[in-house]
Amino acid sequence: MRRAAMMALAAAGLLLVAAGASAQQSRCADCHFANPGAPRADHASRWEMSAHGRANIGCERCHGGNAQTFDKLQAHKGILSWADPKSPVHRANLPVTCGTCHTGQLVAFQKSKHWQLLQKGERRGPTCATCHDDVGGNLLSPKSLEGQCASCHAKGKTAPHPEFPARGRTMLQGVRDARGLLKDAESVIKKIADKPRREALMREADQVRVPLTQAVEAGHAFVYDGLEERLAVAQKRLTALYTHISEPGAQSRP
Ligand code: HEC
Ligand code: HEC
Ligand code: HEC
Ligand code: HEC
Ligand code: HEC
Repeated sequence: MRRAAMMALAAAGLLLVAAGASAQQSRCADCHFANPGAPRADHASRWEMSAHGRANIGCERCHGGNAQTFDKLQAHKGILSWADPKSPVHRANLPVTCGTCHTGQLVAFQKSKHWQLLQKGERRGPTCATCHDDVGGNLLSPKSLEGQCASCHAKGKTAPHPEFPARGRTMLQGVRDARGLLKDAESVIKKIADKPRREALMREADQVRVPLTQAVEAGHAFVYDGLEERLAVAQKRLTALYTHISEPGAQSRP
């Protein structure tokens, strides 16, 4: 009994700590923006514009340090230069640093030849920042992905495999097309007056998004069998969804 009560108190305490922490903003960026002596002002402003800045993923989540203080020495305690092989933002460590939040991408990336190159300390392959920018703010279009692969895999480059860039582009285009169809379907569904039917179709649409997200994650192995498999599932579900939209009543079938 006493033990249960203590555990309840501990749980409540933990909850309070968690709430306090999330309410407290990271101070790293505030000082860096206010201080003209702080390096890489462009990096900080790209961060501010990025999905990370918007989602309050502070500088310390990639760099370490103490984000709760305005004392520079305290704040920088434990921060290593990016060039230090132990730094979490060193190019070889970046996949694991980013992967603390983006697990699916990390797991796929670890299956790739690119990951093996990083582990061997070779500089010829890409790391997460190669495609996403060092603050993770960049998403590639199919064409820019093709260009990115080609910068290393085109004829005459460091690892010539001229078929890879086109393949990357086709795969990402497939994902984009499926996303577009899903979006169109959803805007039709939203206008359906019959509520139970509308909600059933919305749930069905959500089931298309799942394999699409998984396809993008799997694509980080850069051999696209995993992506193709998940994309095929999404396409099959899309076809079914479109059939159900055009045949009132049919969606209630199992
Ligand atoms: C009180 C102001 C202030 C705070 C708070 C602050 N910084 Fe800095 N930071 C600076 C300045 C100024 C520099 C330039 C170097 C110097 O003066 O030490 C710097 C340098 C850096 C560097 C480059 C270090 C190097 O070795 O080249 C990094 C990385 C960095 N800060 C990250 C952070 C992170 C992450 C936080 C929060 C955990 C943070 N800073 C908090 C002012 C601050
Ligand atoms: C999503 C991860 C991520 C976030 C968030 C992030 N950075 Fe960085 N930062 C990096 C990476 C990766 C590099 C290394 C770039 C390179 O290799 O040149 C870097 C480099 C730097 C450098 C160059 C100097 C050094 O020695 O490390 C500074 C200064 C810096 N960041 C400050 C900041 C500040 C200030 C913020 C918040 C406004 C921030 N960063 C947010 C990933 C991040
Ligand atoms: C502490 C957790 C965390 C870390 C570390 C982190 N991210 Fe993120 N990342 C997020 C969140 C949260 C979002 C916003 C998700 C959303 O908007 O749905 C995001 C979004 C993204 C996006 C989508 C951008 C967009 O415009 O939609 C990319 C790409 C990305 N991160 C790459 C990276 C890379 C590369 C790194 C490492 C350099 C990294 N992330 C490190 C949490 C993190
Ligand atoms: C060779 C280029 C490349 C590299 C290297 C790369 N990515 Fe990506 N990443 C992409 C592409 C292409 C997309 C899909 C863009 C889109 O959704 O339209 C993507 C999407 C993402 C997204 C957004 C997912 C979503 O559903 O919106 C995140 C997060 C992400 N990558 C994280 C990472 C992490 C972490 C690493 C390192 C382990 C990494 N990426 C390495 C090309 C790359
Ligand atoms: C920064 C350079 C760089 C970028 C960008 C890059 N790669 Fe690579 N990639 C390499 C290197 C280097 C190797 C190792 C090849 C070797 O040793 O022959 C490699 C290996 C591979 C392999 C494994 C080949 C094998 O023989 O096992 C595949 C598949 C691959 N890359 C696909 C891609 C795709 C697709 C893209 C774009 C989405 C891409 N890569 C982007 C440098 C890069």
